[in-house]
Amino acid sequence: MNYQFPEGFWWGSAASGPQTEGVFEGDGKAQNIWDFWYEEKPEKFFNGVGPDKTSRFYKKYQEDIQLMKETGHNSFRTSIQWSRLIPDPETGAVNPKAVAFYNDVIDGLLANRIEPFFNLYHFDMPMTMQEKGGWLNREVVDQYVFYAKTCFELFGDRVKKWFTHNEPIVPVEGGYLYGWHYPDEVNLKHGVQVAYHEALASAKAIEVYHSMDLDGEIGIVLNLTPTYPRDEQNKADVEAARLVDGLFNRSFLDPAVKGHFPEDIVNWVKENDLMPVTTPEDLKTIAENTIDLLGVNYYQPRRVKTKESPVEIAGNTILPEDFYDVYDMPGKKMNPYRGWEIYEKGIYDTLVNLKENYGNIRCYISENGMGVEGEERFVNAEGMIEDDYRIEFVTDHLKWVHQAIQEGSQVQGYHMWTCMDNWSWLNAYKNRYGFIAVDLDNEAKRTIKKSGYWFKALTENNGFN
Ligand code: BG6
Repeated sequence: MNYQFPEGFWWGSAASGPQTEGVFEGDGKAQNIWDFWYEEKPEKFFNGVGPDKTSRFYKKYQEDIQLMKETGHNSFRTSIQWSRLIPDPETGAVNPKAVAFYNDVIDGLLANRIEPFFNLYHFDMPMTMQEKGGWLNREVVDQYVFYAKTCFELFGDRVKKWFTHNEPIVPVEGGYLYGWHYPDEVNLKHGVQVAYHEALASAKAIEVYHSMDLDGEIGIVLNLTPTYPRDEQNKADVEAARLVDGLFNRSFLDPAVKGHFPEDIVNWVKENDLMPVTTPEDLKTIAENTIDLLGVNYYQPRRVKTKESPVEIAGNTILPEDFYDVYDMPGKKMNPYRGWEIYEKGIYDTLVNLKENYGNIRCYISENGMGVEGEERFVNAEGMIEDDYRIEFVTDHLKWVHQAIQEGSQVQGYHMWTCMDNWSWLNAYKNRYGFIAVDLDNEAKRTIKKSGYWFKALTENNGFN
């Protein structure tokens, strides 16, 4: 069968500033929560590798843009680092070296016919803002909007695709439930307030962007995890799946696309005494400023069942898992090198859901990819990593994306996570995802993997057989 994609389909990859740029070489960059946390607790990071030891995009971006070209990219997403652009949010002064750097990146991409997709926030709260409470503090929302406006003013003449956040659930889960992000608290009430402020910040940035008449579009990138009950016929399992979908997906998707929070989740939040501080003006802002375009990150589904041994629900230590159990489905397909389930049809189910329940919002796959620990073992005699498993992973997912498009979904592109193997928060360099290997011990030397050459052929044909 021939899998041809619509004309003008965006092919490329996604990355983020804090995971690629390198920190301490950066001219005038201030600390963000990752730089700070690494300084405080380096033992938390896999093999003790911190954000300073990234793939060094800050120095190597010209080479990297050429490599993107060599691997067939016509588009690329990264994020601006707030702490690089505006090192002191109190004064709001921009860092001229950061402006020059991002200008060069944008111009370099455009000169090579690679459309820049820019995201504003990828988990990297500036430390001065975190000291005020980060996303918990309403004032930080206004500082973020100022930062967003500054980005639009500086770069909006050339960057036509903007995103307000990458995966806003993750700072909630990581920072306020499970300990993968600073401030490493367990406090769902705080988590709910953070989620609310992120939604508000996004709507406010969208409002500013649209008021500037910049001839581009703005959206948000969400990691949507289709949630399946153990047994479709079991009412309690189905209800558990509905709650989990509400907490992890709809709480972010509904305000972004429909302009309001899902009613069942608002009721659940009230019942569990988790209501955030809100104002009617905020809710109006959220209602009136929805996205133009959605980025969909898809890695794996969630499988759930009803709680078998109910736990006592106790105040601020309450966790989403107090209301459901994870269902370990027998025979599910696993990525043997990362421990995540592989369920290709999940990407299709997500797209069908967007088509049927979210007005068929225009979207693109903004992340999808396969993390592999110990990928060096697949290096061939010529020094190239033969990542056939990644080629298979992407092909199998693309078949389902193609199917969704055939059935009318408005999917406009596919970005793999990621271009260069990059640093990934507490996991640091544990899981490799790139088309291109980075040798950290050898000046971050780049080598294209087999998947990179394969991707070039795919994008040149705008599809595959
Ligand atoms: C995505 C994030 O969800 O997962 C990235 O947007 C992250 O920032 C990627 O690096 C891979 O995560 P991990 O934990 O497998 O390294």
